[in-house]
Amino acid sequence: MPSDPGSEGHHEHDGGSFEGELGEKFWDERYRSSDALWSDEANPQLVAEVTGMAPGAALDVGCGEGADAIWLARQGWRVTAIDISGVALERAAAAARRAGTEVADRITWERCDLGERTPGGPFDLVSAQFMHLPEPERARLHTALAAAVAPGGALLIVGHDFSDLATGLRRPLWPGHFPGAAEVGADLAPEEWDVVVAESRARPAMGPDGEQVTVHDAVLRAERRS
Ligand SMILES: C[S@@+](CC[C@H](N)C(=O)[O-])C[C@H]1O[C@@H](n2cnc3c(N)ncnc32)[C@H](O)[C@@H]1O
Repeated sequence: MPSDPGSEGHHEHDGGSFEGELGEKFWDERYRSSDALWSDEANPQLVAEVTGMAPGAALDVGCGEGADAIWLARQGWRVTAIDISGVALERAAAAARRAGTEVADRITWERCDLGERTPGGPFDLVSAQFMHLPEPERARLHTALAAAVAPGGALLIVGHDFSDLATGLRRPLWPGHFPGAAEVGADLAPEEWDVVVAESRARPAMGPDGEQVTVHDAVLRAERRS
């Protein structure tokens, strides 16, 4: 993980308001501020939930520096990986090339603002890992991601759990920015979806000052009925 803030080798975000700063410029500058923002390992919840699934077509939104897309391609998935940041995508594509032609050829990198457009699909797996948007864009994005899942396919949405705000870890404080897994799952039509996992999962991470902390991921995995 990556990813993310939050995983081993990563630092928690230093907080403050992102208001008005969440666009392409913000993310390009954030990526340029460091040679590597995230680790080159796939997000643990992605690995936990997807291992054992038959590979098909996958969509990775907010793919960042590409660790998840590369891991998926290694498992045989054909991946469409999307991010708003061209800087992140260049890095991701370079990492995929280093992983070899077989992996690189399975991934299509696409620059796209998911606030404006979501790829239509259908995909056998749609994964969003720490792709946080404020409301109402968050709900709109999740609805579009669900619509992009093929019948029989899986939707995996992993984010920082709001409960971490209580641990003293600094996260941007926006109402609705960090919904719990149950809240995310509640938007799915029950007649169409089986919610397989909706929970808060602890994992070790590195805090803002390099200290070991425990953070929580809100993990939603749902399967679209065939
Ligand atoms: C916290 S990072 C997570 C990166 C990656 N999923 C991971 O776990 O390592 C969030 C990513 O979402 C991307 N992003 C933020 N807003 C976006 C938007 N509106 N459209 C597409 N990507 C966006 C950022 O550029 C960034 O790469």
